[in-house]
Amino acid sequence: MLQHSILVGVAPQITKRACYNALLVGPARLNISRSFSACARRYNDLTDRQATAAAVGPHKHNTSSPSLPVTAVSPGADVSHQNTANHGDWVLFHPVYTPEELKAVEVLHREATCFSDKLAANLVKLCRWGYDLVSRYKHKTIPPDSNMTLEQLRKEGYVLDDKQWLQRILFLESIAGVPGMVAATLRHLQSLRLMRRDNGWIHTCLEEAENERMHLMTFMTLRNPSIFFRAIILGAQGVFYNLFFLSYLISPRACHRFVGHLEEEAVLTYTKCIKEIEAGRVPEWSDLPAPQIAIDYWRLEPEANLLDVIYAVRSDETTHRFVNHSLANLDVKTDVNPFALREPDMHVKGKKIAFERTESEQYFKETREMLHKMSTDS
Ligand SMILES: [Fe+2]
Ligand SMILES: [Fe+2]
Repeated sequence: MLQHSILVGVAPQITKRACYNALLVGPARLNISRSFSACARRYNDLTDRQATAAAVGPHKHNTSSPSLPVTAVSPGADVSHQNTANHGDWVLFHPVYTPEELKAVEVLHREATCFSDKLAANLVKLCRWGYDLVSRYKHKTIPPDSNMTLEQLRKEGYVLDDKQWLQRILFLESIAGVPGMVAATLRHLQSLRLMRRDNGWIHTCLEEAENERMHLMTFMTLRNPSIFFRAIILGAQGVFYNLFFLSYLISPRACHRFVGHLEEEAVLTYTKCIKEIEAGRVPEWSDLPAPQIAIDYWRLEPEANLLDVIYAVRSDETTHRFVNHSLANLDVKTDVNPFALREPDMHVKGKKIAFERTESEQYFKETREMLHKMSTDS
């Protein structure tokens, strides 16, 4: 399981505390007669109070370099100008992918079954349709026997040029960073208000928000958007933030489902972008070196190029797809976040749209057993 998972919190001090929590809930849990199958649907191992203690314990960190005081990075600053020891060490946890993981992503879609799921899926379709309309984007398939030149294909609207791709990506990433922060904010405020722990959801939501912002910062190194484009972002953010905030107050589950579908679209978009670059239809990006900020963030090789970055971004979007659809399958009020301490790797997330609630329960049990074993082995 270790090979197929990203075990988080492997630093000695983190492992120690995590194992302590695992010890608390491991053996004790075995004697508890209440089980998922024997009780009401609302309660399972994810809802157990002791499980909560394990999930909200020390959180995951990338420990490849020592923690050092991080100097503030001014907006637009080139990260390469910072102390080299701090490279990529000033962000929250995020996966670093193997070459096999980067290629393991599949375009997937979850069929909605209940009313709120259908509503969320249709809202995403509406957003996509509206954005395509405003940005005058039409998905046109290149005729199989076409011998048009790249210039003709671009002129006829069959393919996007690098500037059009970038504009599309920048807009989508500026919006994609909103939901995680709203969810984290509301759960944080609820925890303060009710004076109780959060079941480990806040960090995952914050990590998603930061991850999306890092996508934006990465692509921003390729272009300085116009005042007009920034004004559109401003308006879109004002509307979307408030709508999502109100929606999350009403139905957090439907909101995570909405984000799950939104991320399906993101995976689709980046998959298309990768195909276009590999087919030589975005020659401006074929050999473009990866921005330093991306090399630091995803721990890429120094000679990595933009295509490597886009593969990594697509894998991140796949994580968001999987995590949000899985969270939407849980009871948002009582269940522990099964991904608070580790996440499945891309061989799972890339091929499976989500964990059902029973799978989350099993996954969380495995995490506890793994931590318990680590504590007894050490
Ligand atoms: Fe993104
Ligand atoms: Fe995303």
